[in-house]
Amino acid sequence: MTPVDLVIAPDPERAAAAATGILVECARHGGHVALAGGSTPRHAYELAAAAEPDWSRVELWLGDERCVPLDDERSNLRLVRETLLARLDRQPTVHPVRTELGAVDAAAAYDEALRGVVLDLAFLGLGDDGHTASLFPGSPALAETERRVVAAEAGLAPWVERVTMTIPMLASARRVVFLVTGAAKAEAARRAFGDVPSAETPASLARSARGETLAILDHEAAVNLA
Ligand code: 6PG
Repeated sequence: MTPVDLVIAPDPERAAAAATGILVECARHGGHVALAGGSTPRHAYELAAAAEPDWSRVELWLGDERCVPLDDERSNLRLVRETLLARLDRQPTVHPVRTELGAVDAAAAYDEALRGVVLDLAFLGLGDDGHTASLFPGSPALAETERRVVAAEAGLAPWVERVTMTIPMLASARRVVFLVTGAAKAEAARRAFGDVPSAETPASLARSARGETLAILDHEAAVNLA
């Protein structure tokens, strides 16, 4: 497991810009990219679309998805569509989670689709309870050692079942990058990036095994890490 490199930006705008640089580099290089949902990455996705409107070399996955129709406002793919895909000139190959199957079967189908895939980038968020993707504190999903994707319980709002990449899938990524902003995340960030790994803080377990793990934080989120 590689240590986490911290990039501490003075404000959320510059944290988003740092994340954008990585997304753009991946879009230009091409490869397999898994994106996060949640609200934090919205601006980085918009900036990345503006900076590089050709994502045709990318195979796009979701690190996790909520089991709702893909046009539901809680859908992570909908977020990615609105902030990134709708703004591109050339589309990546998008791999939606088949949420219409229900969480268990959708996870099995996504697991199969990811067979043999090595992510060039796993782009992740951090919840203020320490979760990442839909890997919640103390979840049985954290014990998974074989499957790339599993169904997961709703650990937080929105209270819908989830489909999530597992720790082994994230660990196999060449690059794991977190984007974390805001004072509400400061304690979770300390536990995720400045403390011993623990199932109580799932993000502390999400590390590239052989590549790079980077956490991009704004000043407020990083206040306990300096
Ligand atoms: C999800 C996400 C999740 C997210 C964190 C942070 O589906 O909810 O993928 O892991 O990254 O909850 O969310 P915010 O950026 O909204 O704080």
